[in-house]
Amino acid sequence: MPSLSECIITTQTEFNSALRAATTEQAAEAVRIEYLGRQGKITSLMALLKDLNLEEKKLYGPQLNQLRQDAELAIRAAKELLLLRQFALLQQQETNFDVTAYVPTYTKGSLHPFTHIIEKIENLFMSMGYQIAEGPEIETPAYNFDALNIPAHHPAREEHDTFWLTLPERLLRTHTSTVQIRTMEKQQPPIAICVPGRAFRHEATDATHDFMFMQCEGLFIDKHVSISNLLATLKVFMQGLFDIEIEVRVRPSYFPFVEPGLEVDISCPFCTTGCSICKKTGWIELGGAGLVHPQVLRYCGLDPDVYTGFAFGLGIERLAMLKDGITDIRLFRNGKIDFLRQF
Ligand code: DAH
Repeated sequence: MPSLSECIITTQTEFNSALRAATTEQAAEAVRIEYLGRQGKITSLMALLKDLNLEEKKLYGPQLNQLRQDAELAIRAAKELLLLRQFALLQQQETNFDVTAYVPTYTKGSLHPFTHIIEKIENLFMSMGYQIAEGPEIETPAYNFDALNIPAHHPAREEHDTFWLTLPERLLRTHTSTVQIRTMEKQQPPIAICVPGRAFRHEATDATHDFMFMQCEGLFIDKHVSISNLLATLKVFMQGLFDIEIEVRVRPSYFPFVEPGLEVDISCPFCTTGCSICKKTGWIELGGAGLVHPQVLRYCGLDPDVYTGFAFGLGIERLAMLKDGITDIRLFRNGKIDFLRQF
């Protein structure tokens, strides 16, 4: 059996190497518990002291005390050192932080196809000297109908499937033509405005109809304005939009606020011989247009013998669908990320 002196020496050696192996403050604490805790190795050695005779106590007492004191000091010093080292390491990690290594995990947004096409439309009209105008979406029947030569009981009112509000004499505008009136009321010719905006109709939705849609109204009022000006303007606009030579043709139609009223078609931008988009006709319907009705000019205080002008109304969804090959109008507003991300 080893003598107590031998035990003291081996315990000290073991303690020293255990402490040296501790690389964190927590590990040093574990060594303290192993040696100096209530059932620790050094504590157990000290417990032997009480069973020794006086002489042995005189011999081993100071050695054991020294062993414990040294161990306590060593633990305290090691803990301090390890704490400092851990702190320094953290600091170094912070200063060495590589910002370029950061890869964001959130989804990147993109502009809505409406934003794209409206920006394009506005830029094209502004390049021709037009101003961008707007008006309220909640309207009165006076602006939505009467001023546009659609009096009460006129059959055209019925065709508009109006959303009437519970407020008296208020509706959601059924077209952006209202802004023609609002502009002519406060501005003297020459007037050249482009009005992209929302319109509302109380109808069932399908792949080509939505109850809320976007229109682009155009109005040009000056002296001696003719249909040639209208055709040239639409041609320049469509060529800018599709980046290709385009023909414009008109067919007679009826809208109460223009005379003559026209339906405008453009040559199909996608084919020369007929494709599924133009239904093999080579022409695509664009929207309504015409020369502003004298009655409308008069309503706005303009003399139809002095001023003439043209107006047109185009469906923005239709243009975006043509331009980007979108097959269902409802895709624009269903908020599906997969659809929106393509633009
Ligand atoms: N406001 C008409 C509609 O929503 C479209 C329209 C037709 C506008 C002819 C015009 C126009 O300015 O001249 O159906």
